[in-house]
Amino acid sequence: MPPVLITGGAGFIGSHLAERLHADGARVTVLDDLSTGREANLAALRGHDGFRFVRGDASDAALLAALMPRGALVFHLAAPVGLHRVLEAPDRVLAEGVATMAAVLDAAARAGARVVLASSSEVYGKPERVPFREDDDLRPGPPSRGRWAYALMKAAKEAMALARHRRGEIEAVVIRFFNVVGPRQTGRYGMVVPRFIARAQRGLPLLVHGDGQQTRTFLHVLDAVEAVVRLAAHPNAAGEIFNVGGEEEISIRTLAGRVIAANSSSSPIHFLPYADAYPAGYEDVLRRVPDIGKVKRLTGWRPRRPLPLSTAELTVPAAHGGAES
Ligand SMILES: NC(=O)c1ccc[n+]([C@@H]2O[C@H](COP(=O)([O-])OP(=O)(O)OC[C@H]3O[C@@H](n4cnc5c(N)ncnc54)[C@H](O)[C@@H]3O)[C@@H](O)[C@H]2O)c1
Repeated sequence: MPPVLITGGAGFIGSHLAERLHADGARVTVLDDLSTGREANLAALRGHDGFRFVRGDASDAALLAALMPRGALVFHLAAPVGLHRVLEAPDRVLAEGVATMAAVLDAAARAGARVVLASSSEVYGKPERVPFREDDDLRPGPPSRGRWAYALMKAAKEAMALARHRRGEIEAVVIRFFNVVGPRQTGRYGMVVPRFIARAQRGLPLLVHGDGQQTRTFLHVLDAVEAVVRLAAHPNAAGEIFNVGGEEEISIRTLAGRVIAANSSSSPIHFLPYADAYPAGYEDVLRRVPDIGKVKRLTGWRPRRPLPLSTAELTVPAAHGGAES
């Protein structure tokens, strides 16, 4: 297996990916500035042969060059995440995302590395029909609404990676994650499942935005990691975009009810008008459902694990097995 560099590897998805790749026998380097990630997420790997953590910025060209050996496999997960951050400073989110992508691609081109980019379902914007397919037109709202900066940033990153791929400078695989959930995810940046669970545990009202009829799918982080590992290794994945998400479309109202039940909580559900939850001009996406046929057909992957919705399911250390059939 080639040596691996994971930018953003101290985060939620990245730390699980690091554990999995290390268990599979890869030499794994994590580069993370700990802006939203935590070194504690990598506790299971600390001190192990073939693993190192480097605190630093994924737009630092010299650092990237030093950490990317020839023929490396690079997972670029580092990104400014969280809706609150995007609404606060959309310009900074855009600039940071693009700068980081450019630096990673430059270094990868010099090292002959393959780059797997973590993109997002956000790039689809607000299409009129579901499920979303990889070759659909993207329909983000106007740039005057800061809310769309994250989508624009991720779409720009995709375009940058795929352009370098087409010129033969690197091999790039783009993965659009839909909501991923599991141990180590934090609710601090607006992620709905950990926020609901934390409030259900304390008997506090679960705050559902709008009427709660908006729908999402959710995918267990270990299922997401399995898809990433398969796509990273597949020769025909290069130059392609893949949706990676769950299959069950579930409304946020229903999700709240399930979290309350899973935690045997007596929390009520409160509905919070969007105007109270977000700055003026916020737009939500009413239905967000991936078509995951492409990754299934190419790799045989499919989601297998039930959603972790209780504290017990989220605090149990993730059982990292090997590859699945
Ligand atoms: N979790 C999801 O449901 C989801 C959905 C869609 C897309 N994604 C994407 O997947 C990736 C991982 O997301 P996550 O949920 O694990 O979030 P996360 O915040 O836990 O992970 C992101 C990591 O990147 C690090 N980071 C940010 N900027 C950096 C920089 N300039 N240099 C070095 N490190 C930096 C953070 O400290 C953090 O550890 C992100 O690119 C995110 O946009 C996640």
